[in-house]
Amino acid sequence: MSGELTDPTGAHDPALRPRNLDEYIGQRKIVDNLRVYIRAALARGEALDHMLLSGPPGLGKTSLAYIIAEELGVGIRTASGPTIERGGDLAAILTTLEPREVLFIDEIHRLPRAVEEVLYPALEDFEIDVVLGQGPGAQSVKLPLNRFTLVSATTRSGLLTQPLRARFGIHATFDFYDVDELHTIIERSARRLDVVITDQGCRELARRSRGTPRIANRLLRRVRDFAEVEGDGTIDQAVCRYALERLEIDELGLDKMDRRILETIGHKFGGGPVGLSTLSAAIGESTDTIEDTYEPYLIQQGFLARTPRGRVLTARGRAHIGMPEDDPQGGLF
Ligand SMILES: Nc1ncnc2c1ncn2[C@@H]1O[C@H](COP(=O)(O)OP(=O)(O)OP(=O)(O)O)[C@@H](O)[C@H]1O
Ligand SMILES: [Mg+2]
Repeated sequence: MSGELTDPTGAHDPALRPRNLDEYIGQRKIVDNLRVYIRAALARGEALDHMLLSGPPGLGKTSLAYIIAEELGVGIRTASGPTIERGGDLAAILTTLEPREVLFIDEIHRLPRAVEEVLYPALEDFEIDVVLGQGPGAQSVKLPLNRFTLVSATTRSGLLTQPLRARFGIHATFDFYDVDELHTIIERSARRLDVVITDQGCRELARRSRGTPRIANRLLRRVRDFAEVEGDGTIDQAVCRYALERLEIDELGLDKMDRRILETIGHKFGGGPVGLSTLSAAIGESTDTIEDTYEPYLIQQGFLARTPRGRVLTARGRAHIGMPEDDPQGGLF
């Protein structure tokens, strides 16, 4: 389903992951502040404050979590929200963390509530409550933990409960990358993959990567296939254009599912508003995938808007699918 745009493990391109802050392109505001926080924590010999990384898939949240541990010179333990089923599972991880170590919990918005409650005292007071025995004789004791740093990632920060959100001292919200940043990322990836790409080829890919490094790297690999099999191996603008057409990625970098979303709202629902679940049923994609993976970019680029009554195409969205300007909503957009 969402396999095209998501790659939860990142296993797809371990070779292309940035390994330290200097290799990490873009997200300047996040990175510049983070350098200060890391230096301060190191100077004091303390654990870095807990950090929440939020933003659409493929923008470098997992990569940054690993880099934070690297820059702090400590180990990293990783877990994912939905795989921590019981409080005891989390307690087992927390009680074995070394001082100042990083615990990375991906998809933190999917952590079960009961597990979340174990996390509160761990984050705030570096202790957990353990119940010994059963029935009337049961006793609750506090178990101290080493001071650690929780780094969490989420594509849906809106789904986090207020008490959990409040326990993160650092909130980093990721933005889509601009063309120059993606250009730099693609150039560097090409060098690592040992493939020749012209400056114009690089720009063409950067422009059509949906503002997302993961997509830029994926397109680079696919275009390389076309360049090697149907050309002389060099990736220039012409090869890029040809390959992206074969991949059904349009001039603006939208893929088939992006266009299907716009076309469905436009042609089936008269431009909207249409509710998310209705849209999901009409295109056969889950509401989660539409919200996490597709909508953020379509909204950021001004193709689509969320209104209290549902999703609506904007003038740019209508133009993109060749819908007449005439707007039954009374020219709202
Ligand atoms: N700032 C960056 N500089 C260079 N490459 C990057 C950067 N951010 C991401 N990448 C590349 O994009 C890939 C995907 O990034 P990553 O897995 O960290 O994204 P993510 O935000 O964790 O996505 P998801 O929400 O799907 O887990 C990385 O493997 C890396 O190759
Ligand atoms: Mg990730």
